[in-house]
Amino acid sequence: MDKLTILITGGAGYIGSHAVKLFLSRGYRVVVFDNLSRGWRQPLDILAPLGDLVFVRGDLTKTADLDQLFANYNFAGVLHFAALCLVDESMSQPERYFYNNVVGSLNLLEQLRQHGCPPLIFSSTCAVYGESQYLPIDEQHPTNPTNPYGESKLIVEKMIQWYGSQHQLPYVILRYFNVCGADSQGLIGDSKKPSQLLMQNAVRGALNIEPFAYTCGQVATPDGTPIRDYIDVEDLVAAHAAAYDYLVAAGSSQIINLGNGQGYSVKEIVSAVETNLHCQLVKAQAPTRLGEYANVYANNSKAKQLLAWQPNKSLDDSIASLTRWYKKFPNGYQF
Ligand SMILES: NC(=O)c1ccc[n+]([C@@H]2O[C@H](COP(=O)([O-])OP(=O)(O)OC[C@H]3O[C@@H](n4cnc5c(N)ncnc54)[C@H](O)[C@@H]3O)[C@@H](O)[C@H]2O)c1
Repeated sequence: MDKLTILITGGAGYIGSHAVKLFLSRGYRVVVFDNLSRGWRQPLDILAPLGDLVFVRGDLTKTADLDQLFANYNFAGVLHFAALCLVDESMSQPERYFYNNVVGSLNLLEQLRQHGCPPLIFSSTCAVYGESQYLPIDEQHPTNPTNPYGESKLIVEKMIQWYGSQHQLPYVILRYFNVCGADSQGLIGDSKKPSQLLMQNAVRGALNIEPFAYTCGQVATPDGTPIRDYIDVEDLVAAHAAAYDYLVAAGSSQIINLGNGQGYSVKEIVSAVETNLHCQLVKAQAPTRLGEYANVYANNSKAKQLLAWQPNKSLDDSIASLTRWYKKFPNGYQF
């Protein structure tokens, strides 16, 4: 029998490339569609020997690119990671975020509608919730994004739900909390420079790749630093495989949180990196980021129950995989 083909948009980026690796290992043919605006060719070259991987360079905002893609392949499922995802950048260029993330996703949805509605797994974010009204945050928590990035994701979620109800598109919307870690075999990782992600930057600082200073005393939490939920990228992509299997087994469309279920403050993450890498990181005063929330962590029971999934990696595991990755690729990918 021919292999089933999975489309992974944004597969040249941080999380998407880890999903590429997992789906190749599961025996699928994987087609990566990416415009390389924020992604890299190199992880795909590294992963190519592991299976049947095709790279198509194209842009979701260009309908001709998508027409060509869907004319060439018949997809058994779609993992939609491609997006711009920097909160600060979205505050200064909201129009760019709405155009890329919303128009790009609408173009993709139109193709799915015209090509038999294969199951869709969408990368959403806890940024759709905004400041927490209660903790832990479950999927019923009100949505109130405080930055255009989160708003763009919420709009796409709503579009997907309408395609679900009106066109029978099966979907799982996954709302990720903060993603950390790298491939445990050290093959691929996060190449954003600098990353917006605390643990990534702290490990880079501890390895003296780049100066790192963390800020403190700015938000209403016990130690004054923001509390977040950190989920390892390998645990995260494992949930995508579970969500795909769930839809293939005729599970109903869902919105599901993907988090570790526990909050850690900036100070706690910095201390964990210091302990693991035997160093002292620098404390600094800096303005609070625009659109910053104090305290956000997930209720992940729905993912555990519906997807039979659970996070397996500890903070120390994520710090160890990031350390391996940054030692091997201190300057990230080169092409
Ligand atoms: N990293 C996190 O902590 C986090 C948290 C919550 C949600 N997410 C979501 O997960 C997804 C992946 O995040 P990431 O950290 O891997 O980001 P990333 O920037 O590393 O990867 C995104 C990829 O999408 C591609 N892309 C962007 N716009 C495109 C377009 N118009 N057409 C084709 N390709 C395009 C980029 O080139 C890049 O390779 C995003 O949708 C993001 O919003 C990430």
